[in-house]
Amino acid sequence: DKPFIFITRNIPEKFVEPLRVVAEVEMWHSEEDPVPHDVLTEKAKKAHGLLTVLSDRVDEELLKEATNLKVIANLAVGFDNIDIQAATKRQIYVCNTPDVLSDTTADLAMTLLMTTARNILEASAHIKENKWTSWSPYLLAGRDIHHKTLGIVGMGKIGEVLAKRAAGFDMNILYHNRSRNEQAESKLPVTYASMDDVLEKSDFVVCLTPLTKQTENMFNEEAFKKMKKSAMFINVSRGDVVDEAALLKALNEEEIAAAGLDVFVNEPIDGSHPLAMHPKVVALPHIGSATVETRTSMIKLAVQNIEAVLAGHFPSTIINRELVPQG
Ligand code: GLV
Ligand code: GLV
Repeated sequence: DKPFIFITRNIPEKFVEPLRVVAEVEMWHSEEDPVPHDVLTEKAKKAHGLLTVLSDRVDEELLKEATNLKVIANLAVGFDNIDIQAATKRQIYVCNTPDVLSDTTADLAMTLLMTTARNILEASAHIKENKWTSWSPYLLAGRDIHHKTLGIVGMGKIGEVLAKRAAGFDMNILYHNRSRNEQAESKLPVTYASMDDVLEKSDFVVCLTPLTKQTENMFNEEAFKKMKKSAMFINVSRGDVVDEAALLKALNEEEIAAAGLDVFVNEPIDGSHPLAMHPKVVALPHIGSATVETRTSMIKLAVQNIEAVLAGHFPSTIINRELVPQG
């Protein structure tokens, strides 16, 4: 019997072909609609491998019944949708897609920062809605980016690339991370700072931290109060690092100036979401790594990780490294 692989979203057949040689592969029929949790649980019961996306919840409930499962390849760098502990306990490798998306996600972070700072969406709408009647001194005037202070929260690989981009814009760069990143400091003009310093001194606070129990709701009422009133908050990590009610309040009470958000607590949201409707918010539908090139690289990496495990090897980008023998 060939091993069974379930892929939770429709991806191009040409990337799945190598897997079909060695496994029976079933792919969820839709590119847009997520697989219902009960269907995923049912498929997982007989699967040796799962290729999941970040909106698929892989919890202990599901893993308990997935007695054949050897590998979960998540099509994302983040893996907060997967119960890692429960997977490790069952000797199931969990893989993500780091590195291949760092440049692209940093590009998006910079784009979102600039779009927010320079009122780009409003400016574009100004023409499309026939509002451009004259040149005037402060028409759609935004805020400078160059020579301002950027505070990066979460200085991992994406943070490093963002710092490189920001240095090109002559920004002063502070960062906060769970642990100091001396390697980043040695090659980039970045200065380690306490979380409070980052919040108090930055003109732009960009959140790139993974979602963990420690980072959940770290951007709360208190955090927004510490920011400058002229500060802009950019989130490209996970919605749950933000208390959205507190963010809304901070925007309404002018504790901060604007926000650029690529992620939300309950995705997907629609145009009636109070943050999406807010005039000081640029809202994007979680497109940090969304380029054709990078999504292709991510898919290839996820497929390779499953292939490796089926061939009896270790996957290349494994999260629960304790499953790999040392030495
Ligand atoms: C996207 O949010 C990812 O984690 O790759
Ligand atoms: C916080 O900044 C973290 O790196 O977890």
